[in-house]
Amino acid sequence: MTRTLVIANQKGGIGKSTSVVNIGRALTEKGYRVLLIDLDPQGGLTAAVGVDSFSIRRSVYSLLMYENAPLARLMRLINQNLVLVPASIDLASAEIQLASKGDQALRLRRGLERNRTPFDYIVIDTPPTLGILTANGLVAADELLIPVQCQYLAMRGVRAVIDTYERIQRVLNPNLQLLGVFATMFMDTSPHAREVVAELRSVFGNQLLNTIIPMADVVAEAPVIERSVLDYAPQHPASLAYRQLTQEIIERGASSQ
Ligand SMILES: Nc1ncnc2c1ncn2[C@@H]1O[C@H](COP(=O)(O)OP(=O)(O)OP(=O)(O)O)[C@@H](O)[C@H]1O
Ligand SMILES: [Mg+2]
Repeated sequence: MTRTLVIANQKGGIGKSTSVVNIGRALTEKGYRVLLIDLDPQGGLTAAVGVDSFSIRRSVYSLLMYENAPLARLMRLINQNLVLVPASIDLASAEIQLASKGDQALRLRRGLERNRTPFDYIVIDTPPTLGILTANGLVAADELLIPVQCQYLAMRGVRAVIDTYERIQRVLNPNLQLLGVFATMFMDTSPHAREVVAELRSVFGNQLLNTIIPMADVVAEAPVIERSVLDYAPQHPASLAYRQLTQEIIERGASSQ
């Protein structure tokens, strides 16, 4: 059975796309077949794996807009067992084009249901907003992961994602579960970072994943040469953290089934 995960937080630049790339890569290291889907018109995920979202003609846009778009034609092979459905810049207009349609938030889900795929995991990246594109991700997925940057006031943003999650779960996708919240960009030297983790633990309890992703230059350098940090610096603590986080994701899914 395919597990479909969505990564969301409307705060920008907190490691969503980076986490999608590296969790995806860690899953393939374990032999899983993984499909990544980029729902962000800015194409952060698409760029991170070396695809130019400004020059491509086929993207997730087609899947959202056209009912006969074959998913297989939108896919790009990134690595053995790692496939991307990229974002293109025209996705920015999809939000307006979909606004008049009654099934505006169901488009991705229906697109995936029409096109059964042989993947073990689908991991969906979302833009830093809580609009129609992110709603499509939340409706298409079974499980939500919320990355939180270990920074002062981080919690303010988390509340908005949780509210959206609860609304979507109530109205559009009763199957959606909060798989977990995880801390990213943790700086050892920052007292705020520790406070944020402590606060996340007191608010989310068991829903806070144990792994903390450290702030590390190698994580930001890896996409420049179009690789995951797991390929770029396989033994770096940040790579080990993404592997460990992925192991937690695998185990939590197994225990809830
Ligand atoms: N653990 C980390 N350590 C250092 N840099 C990081 C880390 N995680 C992400 N970055 C860098 O921070 C920037 C923002 O990360 P990323 O693009 O993953 O965030 P995002 O939440 O997807 O942003 P957006 O909301 O704009 O889509 C990128 O330059 C990325 O390389
Ligand atoms: Mg992003």
